[in-house]
Amino acid sequence: MILDKIIGLFSHDISIDLGTANTIVLVKGKGIIINEPSVVAVQFDKYGRTDMLAVGREAKDMVGKTPGNIKAIRPMKDGVIADFDMTEKMIRYFIEKAHKRKSFIRPRIIISVPYGLTQVERKAVKESAISAGAREVFLIEEPMAAAIGAGLPVREPHGNLIVDIGGGTTEIGVVSLGGLVISKSIRIAGDKMDTSIVDYINKKYNLLIGERTAEEIKIEIGSVVPQKEELKMLVKGKDKVQGLLNTIELSSEDIREALKEPLRGIANSLKDVLENMPPDLAGDVVENGIALTGGGALIRGFDKYLSDIVKLPVYVADEPLLAVAKGTGKALEEIDLLQQLSYD
Ligand SMILES: Nc1ncnc2c1ncn2[C@@H]1O[C@H](COP(=O)(O)OP(=O)(O)OP(=O)(O)O)[C@@H](O)[C@H]1O
Ligand SMILES: [Mg+2]
Repeated sequence: MILDKIIGLFSHDISIDLGTANTIVLVKGKGIIINEPSVVAVQFDKYGRTDMLAVGREAKDMVGKTPGNIKAIRPMKDGVIADFDMTEKMIRYFIEKAHKRKSFIRPRIIISVPYGLTQVERKAVKESAISAGAREVFLIEEPMAAAIGAGLPVREPHGNLIVDIGGGTTEIGVVSLGGLVISKSIRIAGDKMDTSIVDYINKKYNLLIGERTAEEIKIEIGSVVPQKEELKMLVKGKDKVQGLLNTIELSSEDIREALKEPLRGIANSLKDVLENMPPDLAGDVVENGIALTGGGALIRGFDKYLSDIVKLPVYVADEPLLAVAKGTGKALEEIDLLQQLSYD
């Protein structure tokens, strides 16, 4: 339509890594301009109506600390949209922020989504972005975006194996000739690690802590293989028996114990994918190794842990937290091609 073309002249195409934990927005020609937690804080009035108070970092700081009428919501859970209304509000806020609130701009948008979303879920993501102001929306699957962002030669006729450990999902994919040959998405990732830490400290030390504290512990002292010098950290929480505040000292060994189950879950899925891989591609993976991306890849020793289990070289990609966003941004450069190919 002519009108679309005219509006398009004013628009700047953007890509969004709509992650369960973090949303990263990139504007064509400008690079990453937003990198914030996927959290929305809302206030309820006495009639139950909601009002958006904050989005992103400011909202995340409110998690677990809000009075009764304020709620900090993570609209995406386990890699899918749990709250459409809030997801749409969040996308709209980020699009407007990306364009400095010039709301007449209606950009074309590429959004990375977990592998294996249903048609209904894909449609919902697209509709959220359209009603948040996008002119046109394209979707790219996370493992593909992660592989591009990690700098793997995705167009060549060689199998490249990528494991993206995010907040809600771990995505495993084998990419060759520009497509995903095999892929698997499981709902075990950073968030599950946090709840495992909460449960472990509750059981072993009778101490109640929140998920935000668990995440801080994981990042500060979390490890997967024994460390030369084990790390330690003081942690405050509420004693389960006496109900009083208490402080305990945790070590990286504790966290290893706490994370056993989620880590084993990820390793088993990786083994499944390797076992089901056609022999030719398997040969490529033996040669090229396995690349890790996503925030979960940063946990100390994860590459070594997986490598010991699957007996293959494993390495952490550069800037693992940005890989999907960078790959989605690269796909943006080929948006006109996507336009020709897009069928859903
Ligand atoms: N240094 C670190 N060590 C361990 N975990 C980390 C570290 N830094 C970030 N994380 C974890 O990484 C996760 C966020 O990663 P990422 O931003 O890749 O997820 P996402 O893209 O938002 O989620 P998804 O892809 O599942 O939708 C969080 O669970 C966070 O706690
Ligand atoms: Mg992600």
